Amino acid sequence: MILPNKLNITNQLELNKAEEKISKQKAKKLFESGEIDQIDVGTFNGLSQIHAYLFCDIYDFAGKLRDVNIAKGNFRFASLMYLEQSLQNIDKMPQRNFNEIIEKYVEMNIAHPFREGNGRATRIWLDLILKKELHQVIDWNAVDKEDYLMAMERSTVKDIEIKHLLNKALTNKINDREIFMKGIDISYYFEGYSEFRIEDL
Ligand SMILES: Nc1ncnc2c1ncn2[C@@H]1O[C@H](COP(=O)(O)OP(=O)(O)OP(=O)(O)O)[C@@H](O)[C@H]1O
Ligand SMILES: [Mg+2]
Repeated sequence: MILPNKLNITNQLELNKAEEKISKQKAKKLFESGEIDQIDVGTFNGLSQIHAYLFCDIYDFAGKLRDVNIAKGNFRFASLMYLEQSLQNIDKMPQRNFNEIIEKYVEMNIAHPFREGNGRATRIWLDLILKKELHQVIDWNAVDKEDYLMAMERSTVKDIEIKHLLNKALTNKINDREIFMKGIDISYYFEGYSEFRIEDL
């Protein structure tokens, strides 16, 4: 079923394209305007700010908690009954070192707070925590898509694979435009969006 959207698009392919184009333009603006430095780091509030920024022109639910249960593969993300409590607990999780940060990221993925756009918004959120706490970010171009998706699926049971995969891809280039822009393109590619290059928009 196609998600109701502010663009009044009823064709799924067309919505995918418009969503990719508009939200990538917003991601670029988030970086170029420096507004990215105003985002609250390591909290649901910060994640919600990112999600709202990217998707506010497309969906009414941008930045807002989902009101349906969602599943992917064999995994059902946090039940609506526990979602708010879960997010409050995640806010309080420590982020003092790489392992703690990935453990927090894994929990946020399990929460999957939004109706759509969780993967893309949460990877930006993760990079902001790594940047603040470790002065490093992920070079997403160094992360293989299939390995990543398998490791994330596995992470709900055991997080050793995702820790290993992301650790290998850490870089010190925390303010590098190319690392950020390419990272967005790769992050979208992970979710099946690869129609536009962010730098062409
Ligand atoms: N079976 C799974 N179990 C746990 N995590 C998963 C699973 N499948 C995907 N993920 C994680 O969730 C992310 C996004 O997946 P999903 O498609 O469910 O979310 P979404 O809300 O549609 O986000 P986006 O629109 O950014 O793709 C993936 O990048 C991955 O990190
Ligand atoms: Mg999606």
